[in-house]
Amino acid sequence: MDKSIIRAKTLVEALPYIQMFNNKIIVIKYGGSAMIDAELKMSVIKDISLMKLVGIKPVVVHGGGKKISEMLVKIGKEPKFIQGLRVTDDETMEIAEMVLSGNVNKEIVQLFEKQGIKSVGISGKDGRSIIAKKKLLDGLDIGWVGEIDTIQTELITALIENDFIPVIAPIACDENNNTYNINADYVAGAIAAKLGAEKLIYLTDVEGVLRDVKDKTSLISKIKVDEIQRYKDDKIIQGGMIPKVDCCAESIKNGVAGVHILDGRVEHSILLELFTNSGIGTMLMP
Ligand SMILES: Nc1ncnc2c1ncn2[C@@H]1O[C@H](COP(=O)(O)OP(=O)(O)OP(=O)(O)O)[C@@H](O)[C@H]1O
Ligand SMILES: [Mg+2]
Repeated sequence: MDKSIIRAKTLVEALPYIQMFNNKIIVIKYGGSAMIDAELKMSVIKDISLMKLVGIKPVVVHGGGKKISEMLVKIGKEPKFIQGLRVTDDETMEIAEMVLSGNVNKEIVQLFEKQGIKSVGISGKDGRSIIAKKKLLDGLDIGWVGEIDTIQTELITALIENDFIPVIAPIACDENNNTYNINADYVAGAIAAKLGAEKLIYLTDVEGVLRDVKDKTSLISKIKVDEIQRYKDDKIIQGGMIPKVDCCAESIKNGVAGVHILDGRVEHSILLELFTNSGIGTMLMP
């Protein structure tokens, strides 16, 4: 078939999906190595720009764990994690805020603006959009690691209504103005629930949830919320995947209809998930 006809057909096939998601909020958690590789980064930005241009309202929440760790190593500090959460002393907190709110956040905004897409970068501190509180890990104090106390959507909604893509860094204050680093997975989940998002998409650096992390063919394409605990008990889901699946479960309970964990290393994985019927990655189900 003529190449241009195939292209036209592809567009027409996307039409029902474009109609379905028109005017709907879709929250994308952007993390892992899709944030490091320049080409992949551009491909993610283009996918989200396209979503915006066909009438979807994307909200981006980003991580940047790998960049924080790189910077810590540069200053001679060893990154430490317990159950996928970063142990965060004063110095680590300062670095995390500089890297996330400064470097990573503004770079994403700049890439959208380069595509002609209006975008504003904020952290949870702006407009007091996220109020944090200290997170204890089974009673253990791991420093300035926060959990979400409250989400206030006033600023985020104002940005969406004025046609901007909000780009949110997972940094927030508590009531006493202490700064906290919050795992971006929690932020994305809580914001999706609070905004009544249609979908929540976690872009990460693996195929999805794998039965065996070392075997990329072991993808679990559907997980029911009530199966998560068993996967955790069996040590199938570990480390950075724990907060992700926990947030997926929480968001589903809070009414987000479609929750997906996708491979950010696959070019256009967001478009494949949203606009075609070939489901990729792991879908979380009630
Ligand atoms: N069952 C599993 N399937 C897939 N990945 C798993 C599993 N268990 C643990 N993991 C780990 O979870 C990691 C993904 O979480 P990670 O926190 O590293 O990335 P991210 O959340 O996408 O990025 P960031 O933390 O920077 O926002 C994978 O790279 C993998 O090592
Ligand atoms: Mg993570």
